[in-house]
Amino acid sequence: MKAIITAGGHGTRLRPITHTQNKHLIPIANKFMLDYAIEYVRDSGISDIGIIINANDESIKNEFKDGSSRGVNIAYIPQEAPLGLAHVIKISEKFINDEPFIFYLGDNILVGGVAKFIKEFKRENSNCHLALSKVPDPNRFGVAEVANNKIISIEEKPKNPKSDLAVTGIYLYDPAIFEAVNNIKPSARGELEISDAHQYLLDHGLDISYSVITGWWKDTGKPSDLLSANQLVLDNIENDIKGEIVNTTINGKAVISENVRVSNSKIDGPVIINEDTIIENAHVTPHTAIGKRCKVTNSTVGYSIIMSDSVVRDVSDKVTNSLLGIDVEIIGNHKDQSAHRFILGDQSRVEVD
Ligand code: G1P
Repeated sequence: MKAIITAGGHGTRLRPITHTQNKHLIPIANKFMLDYAIEYVRDSGISDIGIIINANDESIKNEFKDGSSRGVNIAYIPQEAPLGLAHVIKISEKFINDEPFIFYLGDNILVGGVAKFIKEFKRENSNCHLALSKVPDPNRFGVAEVANNKIISIEEKPKNPKSDLAVTGIYLYDPAIFEAVNNIKPSARGELEISDAHQYLLDHGLDISYSVITGWWKDTGKPSDLLSANQLVLDNIENDIKGEIVNTTINGKAVISENVRVSNSKIDGPVIINEDTIIENAHVTPHTAIGKRCKVTNSTVGYSIIMSDSVVRDVSDKVTNSLLGIDVEIIGNHKDQSAHRFILGDQSRVEVD
C-alpha cells in the first residue's frame, strides 16, 4: 500500500502567516502540521509516500527531503494549479501504480492515527473506504448519506445536507478510483471534486464502506482550528524538562527543551517551549506552544502558538488566542499609555481593548 498526502493550496484563511510560509509547515505543539500526517501514515506500516506540492514551492522539499529523517520514502508530485482533490489523485496515478492507497489531506489532524481505517478497508474489501465525522456544520464539507450501513450518496458542500456526516480528509482507495477521476467533469468552481469521484463510484456499482471517527478530528483551515489542534496535542504531552528552571513554579505538564532558561516565572501546563528560548518574569498559561529562540519577558501569554524568533516583552495585558509568525515582536510601550504602535504586514489581524 502507498500513501499520497496533500501539502499544497494557498491557506488563504491563514493569511498573513501563509504569505510567507506553506500552511503545512505551521507548527502544532512545535511540530510541523505535515509531520503529523507523515507519522500517522508511517505508523500504519506504509513507507512510500507521495506528497503533492504547489509546482513553485520548494519549502516542503527543503524540509522533508527524501523522507529518510522521518523513516519513510518521499516522492514529490507537483500540482500546476489548484484544480481539485480528484485532480490530485489523477496526477498521482503513475506514483500509485495499481496499488491500493490512502489519500490524506495534510491539514487534517486526528487522534489515534489511520491504522484502524486501513484495517477496516481491508476487512470490508471495498473499492473505497471513507472516514466520516459527525459535525454541526455539514454544509462546509462533503456529506455522506447512509442507509443500512452503506453510503448511498455523497454531495460536496450541499445547501441542504442529507446527514450530519462529513467526509473527512482520510480516504482509502483501490485502483478503481482512477477510472472515476479520469471521467468526471470540473464543477461550477472549475475543480475536479473528490465528492463527484465518489458519486461516480456509487453510480457505477462500486462499493464505498466507511468508519465514523469517534474521537477528535479537525481540518485546520482557520487560526482557531490551529489553536484547538495545538490544545489537543498539548493535552497529551508527557513531562520532559531539560532546560534551566530558576525560581519558577511549574504546574501541570510541560516540555521544556535544551538550552531554554525559565526564571522568576510561572508555567501552567500543558505548555511546550522549544530550544534556546528565554522566559523571564512571565506567566505562561495552558495550551501555549513557544518555538525556538523566542523571548517572553514581563508578560503573560496563553492559549497561543508563538513561532520561532519572536518576542513578547513588557506587555501589560495577557496575550491569548494568538498565532504569532516567525520573528514577530509585541512590545509594551508604557511611555505613552494611550497609544498602540504597529508595524503589520498585509492582512494582519490585531484585537485591542
Ligand atoms: C475538502 C473536500 C470535502 C471534505 C473536506 C475535509 O474540502 O472537498 O469533501 O469534506 O476537504 O477536510 P475543502 O477543505 O477543500 O473545502
